[in-house]
Amino acid sequence: DASDIEKGTYPHYMLKEIDEQPAVMRKIIQNYQNDSGELQIDQDILSAMNDSDRIYIIAAGTSYHAGLVGKQFLERMAQIPVEVHISSEFGYNMPLLSKKPLFIFISQSGETADSRQVLVQIKEMGHKSLTITNVQGSTLSREADYTLLLHAGPEIAVASTKAYTAQLAVLAILAEVTAKSRDIEVPFSLVQELGIVANAMEVLRDSKEEFEAIAREYLSVTRNCFFIGRGIDFYVGLEGALKLKEISYIQAEGFAGGELKHGTIALIEEGTPVIALATQKFVNLSIRGNVKEVVARGANPCIISMDGLNTDEDRFVIPEVHELLTPLISVVPMQLISYYAALHRDCDVDKPRNLAKSVTVE
Ligand code: G6P
Repeated sequence: DASDIEKGTYPHYMLKEIDEQPAVMRKIIQNYQNDSGELQIDQDILSAMNDSDRIYIIAAGTSYHAGLVGKQFLERMAQIPVEVHISSEFGYNMPLLSKKPLFIFISQSGETADSRQVLVQIKEMGHKSLTITNVQGSTLSREADYTLLLHAGPEIAVASTKAYTAQLAVLAILAEVTAKSRDIEVPFSLVQELGIVANAMEVLRDSKEEFEAIAREYLSVTRNCFFIGRGIDFYVGLEGALKLKEISYIQAEGFAGGELKHGTIALIEEGTPVIALATQKFVNLSIRGNVKEVVARGANPCIISMDGLNTDEDRFVIPEVHELLTPLISVVPMQLISYYAALHRDCDVDKPRNLAKSVTVE
């Protein structure tokens, strides 16, 4: 049938969509570049960014995790304070808003009811909104003041992969262009760095057997799995845990490296897999200290580090990219490990139980 043709030679949409990520990166760069090769965003959107004293990112699921990383981009590059909220909570438990808020809705489908409910509310309050979505003409896009598109192509698998990395790329572009419009210097070329990211994604795409082996070794029979990281790696760990839960049904949780000892370390038993991310130089020693803590309690550690920060104990080393952009790369092993874990456990990768691709009820 038609879906077989679209999948081509791939056994699952999820694997196809993971593999499409380098091409999506290049497409995004193309779509956001002007004739002179500079990244560009509509002036209306830049004015809204610069008129606001605080940005409120509203999203659900994987898009919420993209928002957590987006906050780092926007605060560090454009120096605008950002809050990130789960849409289903924000609607009923609204925080005290700043004087000039700008709302950014992140939604692959543009149809998530929880997010739409917030959009309706904040519009009634007279606030401006920007939707970042993969679907042109979607509800959240039509109803917001502005839209930025992901250009990721249709995402069919329920577990979001290429939309997440596309969301990060578009958020980084928004942050960089906003920074420049405020005369804040960005000390690197984002176009160049995103190109490096696309190449690094290709390296990972060619290392699939390694992730299949990791999934087999750590996740074939386990009941649970923990993901730890510090700083921006923590947010990728949250997304890694969500991916694994969604498709393999393994109980998985992401934690800030230093927080595990305040309770959750009680769950570590002999052989419990702990996947640790180490891509950030300033916390490289401390996350490795956290790994030692869990190993002392019997954990089976799987350290995924970045080239230049790696040690002999690491299970996989990702190619070096700019330290702010590591989530675009470090999430790929999370996606592939989850994919193979689900496969080894005979789960329906593309259509996991109890889940829908877009949730149009509150
Ligand atoms: C559903 C999907 C998730 C997705 C979330 C938000 O729960 O199963 O994969 O992250 O909705 O979707 P959105 O389309 O708003 O990004």
